[in-house]
Amino acid sequence: MDFEEYLKKKRKIIDRALDEYLPEEKKEPKLLHRAMRYSIFAGGKRLRPIIAISSFEAVGGKGKVILPVACALEMIHTYSLIHDDLPCMDDDDLRRGKPTLHKIHGEGMAVLTGDALHALAFELLLKAKNFQVIQEVAKAIGTEGMIGGQVKDLEAEGRKVSLKQVEYIHTHKTGKLLKASIRAGAILGNADNKRLKALSAYGEKFGLAFQIMDDILDIVGEERVLGKKRGSDKANSKATYPAVVGLEKSRGIAYSLLKEAKESLRIFQEKSWVFEKLADYVYARIV
Ligand code: IPE
Ligand code: IPE
Ligand code: MG
Ligand code: MG
Ligand code: MG
Repeated sequence: MDFEEYLKKKRKIIDRALDEYLPEEKKEPKLLHRAMRYSIFAGGKRLRPIIAISSFEAVGGKGKVILPVACALEMIHTYSLIHDDLPCMDDDDLRRGKPTLHKIHGEGMAVLTGDALHALAFELLLKAKNFQVIQEVAKAIGTEGMIGGQVKDLEAEGRKVSLKQVEYIHTHKTGKLLKASIRAGAILGNADNKRLKALSAYGEKFGLAFQIMDDILDIVGEERVLGKKRGSDKANSKATYPAVVGLEKSRGIAYSLLKEAKESLRIFQEKSWVFEKLADYVYARIV
């Protein structure tokens, strides 16, 4: 199957499931339910759920048990974006090609909508009845994961940081959830240790490379394609790879990481084609 077609097919399945799991707009509190749906269906590449499903399938997982978990990952990611865009964080006005949630419903509502998506995500994670998966996701987004990374990201604003510090920020604020997505799929698909390790290695490299590319796109990307405004990092004096090592070197580092990511999946042979394409797809976004 063509990769673009594969993505489209998966997105359709994910969007249908998201629609099923999200509370209906006509149910109270209507404004909250409308806001949750606004942010989830504003667009978005659905990378985390796609990665979870692809990992599940690559290790031979069958059935629908992965679907609520995949949707939970997208809800957590969306909640993190809603909060990330707030004036007290990155102060951005555009997300997924639409006004950010606080621009429409105000800051209080945006905070609470993020909280509601976070809570619903854990309700969905329970559906798979797998403690390891719940624990992995909780850890990945907690103090030593995504939130830890976001804290360091805020602390680094306007400061001179080392490559080691920006690597910490990126592996945590973005890498951990991407890695947890691939691991959740593998664990639910009953992967053996060798395969779980290989997929984890991919997730780790891919996760860091993905945030480096996001930094690069904040400088050279097209707003129309990205759905968010360019130049946000510079305006906030953020710790980014281009700010620390320059654009060219950042590209080089991302390229090497994605190459290593692909190499870690050799044992899968052709069964990992999706992950190879995914790595190429992420890199091609800038060239
Ligand atoms: C944006 O993530 C924020 C980062 C973690 C870099 P995505 O680029 O996956 O955003 P969507 O989900 O497609 O909107
Ligand atoms: C966002 O990183 C990471 C999380 C939301 C956890 P960025 O701040 O770089 O993401 P964008 O550029 O706003 O999408
Ligand atoms: Mg941010
Ligand atoms: Mg941001
Ligand atoms: Mg960014």
